[in-house]
Amino acid sequence: MRISVFGCGYLGAVHAAAMASLGHEVVGIDPDAAKIALLSSGRTPFFEPGLPELLTAGLARGRLRFTTDPSEAAAADVHFVGVGTPQRKDGTGADLTYVDQAIADLLPYLRHGALVVGKSTVPVGTAARLAKIVGAVGARLAWNPEFLREGYAVKDTIEPDRLVYGLDAATAEQDAALLDEVYASAIAHDTPRIVTDYATSELVKVAANSFLATKISFINAMAEIAEVVGGDVTQLADALGHDTRIGRRFLNAGVGFGGGCLPKDIRAFAARAEELGRGDSVAFLKQVDEINLRRRQHMVDRVVDSFGGIVHGRRVAVLGLAFKPFSDDVRDSPALDIAVRLNGLGAEVMSHDPEAIPNSRRLHPQLTYTEDLDEALEGAEAVVLVTEWNVYRGLDPVATAAKVARPVIFDGRNVLDPPAWRAAGWTCTGMGR
Ligand code: UGA
Repeated sequence: MRISVFGCGYLGAVHAAAMASLGHEVVGIDPDAAKIALLSSGRTPFFEPGLPELLTAGLARGRLRFTTDPSEAAAADVHFVGVGTPQRKDGTGADLTYVDQAIADLLPYLRHGALVVGKSTVPVGTAARLAKIVGAVGARLAWNPEFLREGYAVKDTIEPDRLVYGLDAATAEQDAALLDEVYASAIAHDTPRIVTDYATSELVKVAANSFLATKISFINAMAEIAEVVGGDVTQLADALGHDTRIGRRFLNAGVGFGGGCLPKDIRAFAARAEELGRGDSVAFLKQVDEINLRRRQHMVDRVVDSFGGIVHGRRVAVLGLAFKPFSDDVRDSPALDIAVRLNGLGAEVMSHDPEAIPNSRRLHPQLTYTEDLDEALEGAEAVVLVTEWNVYRGLDPVATAAKVARPVIFDGRNVLDPPAWRAAGWTCTGMGR
């Protein structure tokens, strides 16, 4: 099929490359010329395992191209909209500027009968509004939320857990058939497919992210209690997780969730619910957010306490900046936030991350960064692990003790084996254990 993808950020670039790998003829469109130049040469503006290979293959086969020119969408049968919906600068709702702009850019080139497919995470009600705009030129709209995780984006796009089609009841059958053609490979692998209305499809996405965020804040709330009573939240999570109704995934306590999705999505959902007169229904999301943000300060407090209350002038190695491993994304990252807070208190912070230093430096040039893990550890009076990269999980407690000035480590992701570290002379403090 001939496909256009508006927006070549995380979602759009991966979607375009994945669709090309499935045999479709794809053009990715984005107004950012630098991004387009990079993608056209097979490189990615962000770190995502497997994506460069997919891009290179698509470009080489001539099935994938990138442009800043929206008129190149004219030949496509299906137009995906995968632009960002960041948090508004003046509030907690979603900023729909890029979605509206993409639709406006596409509109002059929309053929009668073409299908516009929204993938961006939007406030419920957006699809119905956009359907009227594209309907005016004889095109149709579908909403098809994306559930990809950074770090696994390629796999999640090509082999999704489920497909959700939000469709206009009047044309549902033909629109579903068109989407089935796009996703023929996933359909052939019996991927569950839910065909529904616009509102439900929009809600599925924010409800899923709200549920995941709530699960993480739930276990972090248990971590707060476990700390007071001397319990171990990781054992608690293991025990809870054996109940298959609860499940063990997304029950890892630590410094909390971050990234470009969970934090802004729960805030936007709460803001939208207020507008709908149902703020009370999701009032708990405010607490989910608060519990989450508390974790960062809690970590900072523990580090400061370990120095008797004053961290000024003390050497602290912060291991990790990305909001999670296998990503260079530092949007709303607890790890970067903790480094910034410690630096703000006057600590001599030395930050390390295998991938996220350039993005961190752009946002916080005042921090000191090193790409050399040994250099980060050398002379440190406290080590703070805040992103669970394998290179940190694999640190040897004995060898690491020889590098630091004071063997004190804080495990913000509960991935170290405290007895092994203690046996090597460390004071090892986890989160909620
Ligand atoms: C999230 C969702 O998992 C995807 O399904 C969704 O498509 C995506 O947002 C989106 O809306 O686009 P992502 O932001 O890539 O994906 O990252 P996650 O793997 O969900 O992790 C989010 C944060 O939660 C990370 O900071 C991670 O460290 C933290 N986390 C995760 C915990 O603190 N504990 C856990 O047990 C799991």
